[in-house]
Amino acid sequence: MYNFDEHIERNGTDCIKYDAMDLMYSTGDMLPFWIADMDFSTPAPIVAAMKKRLDHPVFGYSKWNTDEFYDAVKHWYRTRFNARVMNNDLHYAPSVLFTITEVIRTLTAEGDGVIINTPSYNNFINLIEGNRRTIVEAPLMADGSSYKMDMDAFESLCQQRNNKVFLLCNPHNPTGKVFTEEELTTIVEICEAHDIFIISDEIHMDFVRSEAGHQTLVKWMKPDSPILVTTCLGKTFNISGLPHSFYITKHRYMSLDLNRKLMSVYGLSSTNSLINYAVQAAYMECADWVDAVNDYIGDNMQVVQSYIETHLSDVLEVQIPEATFLMWIDFKKSGYDEDTVQHALQHIGKVAVGIGSSYELGVSTHFRLNVACTRDRLMEGLDRIKQAFDSLK
Ligand SMILES: Cc1ncc(COP(=O)(O)O)c(C=O)c1O
Repeated sequence: MYNFDEHIERNGTDCIKYDAMDLMYSTGDMLPFWIADMDFSTPAPIVAAMKKRLDHPVFGYSKWNTDEFYDAVKHWYRTRFNARVMNNDLHYAPSVLFTITEVIRTLTAEGDGVIINTPSYNNFINLIEGNRRTIVEAPLMADGSSYKMDMDAFESLCQQRNNKVFLLCNPHNPTGKVFTEEELTTIVEICEAHDIFIISDEIHMDFVRSEAGHQTLVKWMKPDSPILVTTCLGKTFNISGLPHSFYITKHRYMSLDLNRKLMSVYGLSSTNSLINYAVQAAYMECADWVDAVNDYIGDNMQVVQSYIETHLSDVLEVQIPEATFLMWIDFKKSGYDEDTVQHALQHIGKVAVGIGSSYELGVSTHFRLNVACTRDRLMEGLDRIKQAFDSLK
C-alpha cells in the first residue's frame, strides 16, 4: 500500500542530512546515515492538508490552541497509547529542545546537576553543558537483548542535593531502549521521594515495535506531579523541517511559567501557519502509515543484523532495538579506536554515520546508524561499511 522502496532525491533541497554533510564531517562525498530524519516522503494526507492551507494566500500570525489541535492530540494518545490527555495539560512550544532547555533553566542554577542516561542523545549533552549545568550520568548497560538502568545507583544520584532534574529519553536515543511500566513506576517513585523533576522526551514514541508498546509518562501524572512530557510529530511523520512541538504536564507552575516566558521573554507564542493542518491530518488519518513505516524499519533492522552476522561478525556487534529508526553499533571487538574507524568509514566506505563520542562521554566504541531509508540504500551502505572495515585488516 505504501512504497518505502521509492528513492526520493533529497540532494539540493537544503536538507541537513545531504546538503550540510560537509559541515559536520571532513568530506561531503558520502551516503548519509546520520542525522535522525527519514528518507521517506511525509504521508500524502499531511501534504494535502498543508497544500490546502497554502491555497489561502495570507500567512499571518497563527494560533495553535484550536479545538482541532486538542482533539487530534487527544485522539492519538487515546488510540495509540491508551492515555487520556486533558486540554488544560496540553501546551505548544517551538521545539522539544527549547522546552527541555527552559525547564532546566527554570529549575536549576549554574553548576546544578541534570541526570541523563548515557549514552545520550548528543544535544542533551550540548544543552546541559551550554547552559553551564553539570551532566550527571546514569549509565545504561547492554544486557544482550535490551539495556538496563541500575535503579539503586540512580536513587543515590537523586539523593544528592545538587541534582534537580532527570532528563529521561523514552524511547531512548541512541540505544532504542523502551522503558517498561515497572521501570517507569520505580523512576517516578524515586524522583518523587527526592524532589527530582522528570522531563520525559518522548519524541521517538511512535517507533516502538515491541509488544508492550510505548508507555507514556502522561499515565503517571497526578495533579501537580513534577513531570513534563515533551514531544512533536517531527520524527514520526518526517516533518522536522516544520518546527513545532507540544508538551503535557499537570504541573501548573511549570506550564504557567513556560507560557509566560514564551510570550514575555522570547516573543515566540505564534506558531507557523501550516502545522495545525499537518497535526490534524497526521493524527486523524495516518495511523496505518505509521504502522507500515515501522514494519519497513523493523525489516531494515533485521537486514542490518543478518548482514553483520554474515559479513562483519569479527568486528561489529549489534542488538536490534525495540524502538526508533537508529541502531547503536559496537565495534569494540575490532580493536580499532574511533578515529581509525571513522576515518575508514568516511574516506574508504564513504558513509556518514553518527559519531559515537558525541553520545558517549568517555571513549566510544560505537557508531549510530539511521536505517530510515530505502532497502537498496541500506544495502549499499552496508557494503560500504564492510569495505571500510576490510580496508583496516
Ligand atoms: C531524543 C530527541 N529529542 C529531541 C530531538 C530534537 O527535537 P526538536 O527538533 O523538536 O528540538 C531529537 C532529534 O533527533 C531527538 O532524537
